[in-house]
Amino acid sequence: MAIAKAVILCAGEGTRLRPLTSLCPKHLLPVAGQPLLGWILQDLAAVGIRQVGLVVGYHAEAIEEHIADGSQWGVTATYLTQPQPLGLADAVNTAREFVGQEPFVVYLGDNVLEGGLSDFLNRFEDEQANATIVVKEVDDPRQFGVVEMQGPAVVRLVEKPAQPRSNLAIVGVYAFKPVIFEGIAQIAPSARGEYEITDAIQWVLDNEGKVTAHKLAGFWGDAASPEDLLGINQFYLDRIPLAVSGRVDDNTKLQEPVGVGSNTRVSGSDLTGPSIIGDNCVIENCSLGPYVSVSDGCHIVNSNLRNCIIRENCHLQATELADSVVGQQVEIVGAGRGQGPPLSTIVGDTSRIRIA
Ligand code: G1P
Repeated sequence: MAIAKAVILCAGEGTRLRPLTSLCPKHLLPVAGQPLLGWILQDLAAVGIRQVGLVVGYHAEAIEEHIADGSQWGVTATYLTQPQPLGLADAVNTAREFVGQEPFVVYLGDNVLEGGLSDFLNRFEDEQANATIVVKEVDDPRQFGVVEMQGPAVVRLVEKPAQPRSNLAIVGVYAFKPVIFEGIAQIAPSARGEYEITDAIQWVLDNEGKVTAHKLAGFWGDAASPEDLLGINQFYLDRIPLAVSGRVDDNTKLQEPVGVGSNTRVSGSDLTGPSIIGDNCVIENCSLGPYVSVSDGCHIVNSNLRNCIIRENCHLQATELADSVVGQQVEIVGAGRGQGPPLSTIVGDTSRIRIA
């Protein structure tokens, strides 16, 4: 039976992304021209999963306002509220009625992966599994759920083990039959005080069997830190089509691919791709790129930016930034260019910085 429903978990606070998440859930942070959540919705729609339950909590209203009915991404969004942050298994349990008796996908709202979902879902269906997880080899798996395998068989899943028995981390994308809810009902909170989905999957393995794993060969982005966000921004900028719709004057040098949004004016600048500038921006006498994403409504003058995410409605002047993420409505007046190494910074929404 083809999967028609997905549950995206986006209730978490994103503490490691503060101050970017002080006023905004991490799932809405923009990467390469759209919120993180948009990339996930796009991947689900691409495999025909159109009924999407979004489990919300922290700044739920912002997610509902931004994603709305989901039609912009070709899905129908239903909002499910997790009253308290009691862990991923508890979050999945919030979706019990939404899911009903059908198999479903769970997608952590801060994860993205390369290559879409079709190989993984084919595997879940071909193997008639009760649960299929996605795993990826990583250097240090201690901060993840870790899987032990014997050949193709999953033998054990442990959440954040101090001494991992393998380097296979659990990626935040799962396919489940509804039997997972039985596992969720049986588990106790972990050492960190949360109901872990990893423990519920272990219960399914022990009691019902048929837990399988799909190894991800390509990129896995887990947006836990600002550095992760910049990495995900690079990943998408390297792959998406970018086009110029705004006005770029003759004194601007474009090294494509560069995206320039509608009603944006660029003058006297060097734009190095891959980079993207949103709608209604003014860019004057700047050097931007590579790997710069500027959201809508920004005004950037006499500035150099490389490997940066700049959120909506920022004003930057005489500023050199590299490897930085700047929140919404931030004003930075720098000391001018060529005054030393570029500033590398993470700036929360509505901040004002004046250097000089
Ligand atoms: C969660 C899961 C973990 C998984 C990780 C992937 O961890 O519990 O098993 O490896 O997501 O991002 P958390 O992000 O809650 O620490």
